[in-house]
Amino acid sequence: MSLSTINKITVLGSGVMGHGIAQVSAMAGYNVVLRDIEQSFLDKAMEKIKWSLNKLVEKQKLSQTEADKIFAQITPVVDLKQALKGADLLIEAVPEDMNLKKKVYTEVDSFAESKTLYASNTSTLPISEMAALTSRPDRFIGLHFFNPPQLMPLVEVIPGGKTSDSMVDMAMGFVQKVGKQPVLCKKDVVGFIVNRVFIPLVHEAVYCRERDNVAMTTIDSAVKFKMSFPMGIFELADYTGLDVIHKATVEMHSRDSKVIRPHPKIKQLFDEKNLGQKTGKGFYEYKGDKYERINLTEQEAAKYSPIALLAVAANNAAWLISNGVCSNQDLEKALRLGMGLKKELFATVQDFGTKNIVQTLKDLAARHGSFYEPDPYLVNYRN
Ligand code: 3HC
Repeated sequence: MSLSTINKITVLGSGVMGHGIAQVSAMAGYNVVLRDIEQSFLDKAMEKIKWSLNKLVEKQKLSQTEADKIFAQITPVVDLKQALKGADLLIEAVPEDMNLKKKVYTEVDSFAESKTLYASNTSTLPISEMAALTSRPDRFIGLHFFNPPQLMPLVEVIPGGKTSDSMVDMAMGFVQKVGKQPVLCKKDVVGFIVNRVFIPLVHEAVYCRERDNVAMTTIDSAVKFKMSFPMGIFELADYTGLDVIHKATVEMHSRDSKVIRPHPKIKQLFDEKNLGQKTGKGFYEYKGDKYERINLTEQEAAKYSPIALLAVAANNAAWLISNGVCSNQDLEKALRLGMGLKKELFATVQDFGTKNIVQTLKDLAARHGSFYEPDPYLVNYRN
């Protein structure tokens, strides 16, 4: 198996991630089939691809001719058998539900040709467990893109227990071919790298709001201007979707209750179908379902110290390094490229003082339990 044998890509699922992955694959010159279970979902996805390509033309990143060619390289298809015909690489981006994935992979396996390699864009489900559902666990890998795939340069590459080395090489090469940068997640751990930091942070932000009785825009401004995030954390949760956050939470917490301290507000927003920007309301309210930003200011940021948020982010990051999931360098790369951090997380830790961060965690652990126990890497981290 090698990258040069990949010509036709089939993307399963045309939601936020699926349509973006189809677009970036087509932008790299691949012929792409985008498959979903209803024509109306595909129509919506193709509209979004058109919108995104227009934006790139507007910003002179593509010519109109190139954009038209890319659009024409993506074929929307409902019939699964037809969608899989001749596929060299399948990228699965269906909703994060193990029962659904089981159903999908059983069906896929009955139609896919023996040459087809499998990749899942899962954000939280165990790669080895999904690979075991298929006839080809050695040719199954996690390829975790970030939202929006068109703009975020990171793809986490996660091998399962049986993934072959040549499949890992192919995946790393494919990521580069589609203009992204791979980071190898060496262990199939809950949340991989970025979500292990991101998802618990959303919950912590809600706890901070309650504990400190401050406005969401104050916390978000502090996250943006004092932690060097491109968006506030409530803003990012709305942008990602409360359905995605909720499902990731349930999955991560059920696999390892220590990685996350769930706040009931997330489930409440999910149950109320206030899913964020896409439904017009989540933590904040929006005018429509199109890209929109919250007004965050340095003035607001000055009113709040986000030390508890930084402490929780750094602690989960430290766990990943302590446990050999990634190096400090790859961790910083993943946060820069996958979440758009403008400064290294551990540089911000140094600004706040490692001792202060560790003390904050100890205080929180004394009041709220072992989720906050500082990781040895952080305790021993030298400024
Ligand atoms: N295609 C093309 N253009 C797009 C686009 C898309 N899909 N989405 C947005 N844009 C455009 C916007 O319309 C805007 O254009 P404009 O200048 O004409 O208004 C431009 O891109 C963005 O400019 P902004 O000044 O609004 O924003 P930023 O400079 O802050 O960049 C961002 C936007 C890249 C989204 C940046 O804010 C960012 O990196 N945010 C963090 C996103 C993040 O953390 N993603 C990961 C979430 S976790 C995840 O996905 C994992 C999953 O498993 C949960």
